[in-house]
Amino acid sequence: MYGIINSSFKKYIVEVYGDEQGTEISDSSGVKSEVFNEYRSHDDENTLALLKAAVEVTGETPDHHLRQFGRFWVRRVATNDFRGLIDSYGGDFVSLIQNLDSMHKEISGTFLDYSPPSFAIKELTESRYSVTYQSYRQGFTPFVLGILEELGDFYGRVTTIESVETTLSDKGEKSVICVEIPKKNLEI
Ligand code: HEM
Repeated sequence: MYGIINSSFKKYIVEVYGDEQGTEISDSSGVKSEVFNEYRSHDDENTLALLKAAVEVTGETPDHHLRQFGRFWVRRVATNDFRGLIDSYGGDFVSLIQNLDSMHKEISGTFLDYSPPSFAIKELTESRYSVTYQSYRQGFTPFVLGILEELGDFYGRVTTIESVETTLSDKGEKSVICVEIPKKNLEI
């Protein structure tokens, strides 16, 4: 996975658990410092080693970390360092998800040889949508759930994950995620 994902994962750990545990996790993962080189691609094994070390040091599950990291990625990285990109591809939750493949494609000039996932969104009712996520990787659906929840907050809509159906194949992983996004939040 690209270095920016690894370095952001370390920033997530430091934000939640502090500097000392951040260092303990990178040290015990055995990954080299170059793995945090943001604009280079690295073997996914490094990302998985960081995740495994985070699980061992904190006692939380891999799914917990991936979901919280998804939220961190949107809050601290995507809507902060890449705000222009987010704004130009999505004025709201639905349009951003609709345009995500084009957005990931546009940045393939910066992130050479990377393997981003693919997304589609379908309206089921006025407030329910089904989001289809397809990746060459396995195990990253909880990361997507965290991203979707935090994007809901970013766009001012409480987004609830209602159900997730994941299918594994030798090509990777596909998840159909049903989300509830009220058209308008209740005014208090
Ligand atoms: C706007 C800022 C964004 C940037 C710069 C960005 C960039 C990247 C990069 C560099 C990777 C690593 C892929 C690799 O190394 O092969 C990645 C992976 C990923 N991205 Fe994006 N992305 C952004 C926004 C989003 C959003 C809004 C979503 C979802 C709703 C998303 C979903 C994912 C997922 C799930 C992965 C994990 C890899 C996988 O599932 O196979 N990204 N992205």
